[in-house]
Amino acid sequence: MFVGVGVTCLLTSFVSCATPAAFGVLCNGEEWMDTQGNPINAHGGGVLYHQGTYYWYGEHKSDFTTAAMVGITCYASKDLRRWENCGVALSVVDSVGADLERGCVMERPKVIYNETMKQFVMWFHLELKGKGYSAARTAVAVSDSPKGPFRYVRSMRVNPDVLPIDMSDKQWGEMMQLQPKDYKKWWTKRWYAAVEKGLFLKRDMATGQMARDMTLFKDDDGKAYHIYSSEENMTLHIAELSADYCSHKGKYIRVAPGGMNEAPTIFKHKGTYWMITSGCTGWDPNAARMFSAPTIWGPWTQHENPCVGEHSELTFGAQGTFVLPVEGRQGAFLFMADVWKPKCPSDSRYLWLPITFTAEWTPVIMRPNVVSVAENN
Ligand code: DGJ
Repeated sequence: MFVGVGVTCLLTSFVSCATPAAFGVLCNGEEWMDTQGNPINAHGGGVLYHQGTYYWYGEHKSDFTTAAMVGITCYASKDLRRWENCGVALSVVDSVGADLERGCVMERPKVIYNETMKQFVMWFHLELKGKGYSAARTAVAVSDSPKGPFRYVRSMRVNPDVLPIDMSDKQWGEMMQLQPKDYKKWWTKRWYAAVEKGLFLKRDMATGQMARDMTLFKDDDGKAYHIYSSEENMTLHIAELSADYCSHKGKYIRVAPGGMNEAPTIFKHKGTYWMITSGCTGWDPNAARMFSAPTIWGPWTQHENPCVGEHSELTFGAQGTFVLPVEGRQGAFLFMADVWKPKCPSDSRYLWLPITFTAEWTPVIMRPNVVSVAENN
């Protein structure tokens, strides 16, 4: 299941890497069992390190639907290899019309710890039962214990009536000229240009911005950020959270307007913020994208796909979900990704690959021994 130091050395010899701290491959797409011998069911997940233990939160996927029939699961580990099933951290409910009604969509949960409130705060992407992906909401839940159970707080769209801090007066003026009725035909050059200028941002100003695929990032100074696909998945937003991490502070930027990015993951290394995302092709894999910035507020610059080698143009058949900094190993990061199996979602697999760095400290991701990436459907 996991490939250790030997493979790491092999990987690092292909690219001129400067990563003595790199960790091995934790999972390479095989079935990954928990300590009781059952397949780990925690997809689209994220990991929190707290007081000597890693907690992995993810979507429980069932055999026949990608909707949430159980909720968000939690697994615990001391070594990132052996994971104990801690059960359901946030459960769906059976009340008709409730946000978390069984059959809703709960995706990409991430948990951070708030030192001041002594509270674990979970954010995830929520879609209401029976409404497809139209709600485009984000939701928050809290717990006094990392294993939960988490108490559901609320769901929302993001930052109503707030303009992004990176929009100039001139850009604001241009956005205000845009009329949705003039752009009924999607995917034309004209339409792309309007989207870039804020066609959907303006449309959703009063209700709050759409929030689908997401991650959280807690910076060294304790400030936390929600990074999510917004504006019909056309544009990423980075929004600061309030001091208790339970709401948005009203400060955000747009990243790669019109660039169609999903599955954001983020980490910081040697003072640079790195973001690895995917394109938008549903459950099918596509090429990862990578951005960097000197501050969380940008400017964000796009780089080449960080994946290299065979099938790197499809992120090795996977889609990123989180970048995990390995505790106590400065510079060691794991790229956590999901190999989705939409026909049997519970059989979706994991790729946990080390991030190595070039001599110029650019992240690189390789997968050893790729057999097939065409088995998705
Ligand atoms: C791609 C997203 O990254 C997934 O989390 C999920 O929302 C699928 N789209 C649904 O098609």
